[in-house]
Amino acid sequence: MELAVVTGANSGIGEQIATGLARHGTSVALVARNRERLEAARRRIAAAAPGSDLQVEPVDLAELDEVRALAARLAGQDPSIVVSNAAVIAPLDDRTPAGLHRSLATNHLAPYLLLRTLAEQPSARSRRFVVVGGSPSGLRRVPVDLDDLNAETGRGLAWPPSFRPFAAYGRTKNMNAMFVYGLARRLRGTGSTVNGAHPGIIRGGRLNRHDRGALRLFGSVLGRFAARTETGADTPLWLATAPELDGVSGRFYVKRRAVETAEHTTDPDRVERLWRESARLVGLPD
Ligand SMILES: NC(=O)c1ccc[n+]([C@@H]2O[C@H](COP(=O)([O-])OP(=O)(O)OC[C@H]3O[C@@H](n4cnc5c(N)ncnc54)[C@H](OP(=O)(O)O)[C@@H]3O)[C@@H](O)[C@H]2O)c1
Repeated sequence: MELAVVTGANSGIGEQIATGLARHGTSVALVARNRERLEAARRRIAAAAPGSDLQVEPVDLAELDEVRALAARLAGQDPSIVVSNAAVIAPLDDRTPAGLHRSLATNHLAPYLLLRTLAEQPSARSRRFVVVGGSPSGLRRVPVDLDDLNAETGRGLAWPPSFRPFAAYGRTKNMNAMFVYGLARRLRGTGSTVNGAHPGIIRGGRLNRHDRGALRLFGSVLGRFAARTETGADTPLWLATAPELDGVSGRFYVKRRAVETAEHTTDPDRVERLWRESARLVGLPD
């Protein structure tokens, strides 16, 4: 049986993606940090997709050593689908023991390390990599600061202060698109593909668990107009499974439509610079 990997699979959009893949008939490795929520999600998915083969991988993706160990375990199982979906909007002073901003580590460095390691693993099969990013239109205003990936200075982040974690998160979501373009270039000619997706504005997840002040208010207002997690899972699931997408790579989708992302995400020099800086931060050769 083919194996699919979904990160952030214990709630929200990730759980729906995992459910869809289980119904599709693939074994699914469910990756998330919180073991209890992971076990609860496994039970819900098993009930929604009877007979499915599910494995849980409790991993803190903000800890790069844990991501490396996960990549090594998964490489042995040669997954054919890998969906990077986990993300967090962390306060700016929330740093990992390695000094990385938690949003940078979880949302960008973890998928960079995990997907790159698996993509570089020799495999006889064509693999599909899918990266859940954010809204291409909303993210135009928060270009990645390549001189301050780790949000040390907070330069150019939003006002009021309660929005700054959201702006820093937005930058990591732009990094998701840039990573898709960088990885797609390297996968060319291998048969494996990588594409990005914006799930839409979706309620039912826990993304704004750390929001404070005006940002919390903004999130609750936005939530009233948000769609269900099933809607959010639709495009990533389609990218992971649709036969008509065989060989399609290096694109970014909203509601199953290929869209342009901001020029600051497609500029080849910026894409390559992010690739090199990320390699340095995770300890891989560039
Ligand atoms: N919801 C929206 O409106 C929206 C809009 C645009 C883009 N997106 C994107 O859609 C994706 C899913 O969002 P969602 O709304 O479903 O959010 P969510 O319910 O908060 O789900 C996030 C998932 O990521 C996992 N996660 C967070 N930090 C982790 C870590 N350090 N290690 C391992 N797992 C970790 C969480 O697991 P734990 O509970 O164990 O931490 C959870 O399973 C994200 O990439 C987000 O950026 C969402």
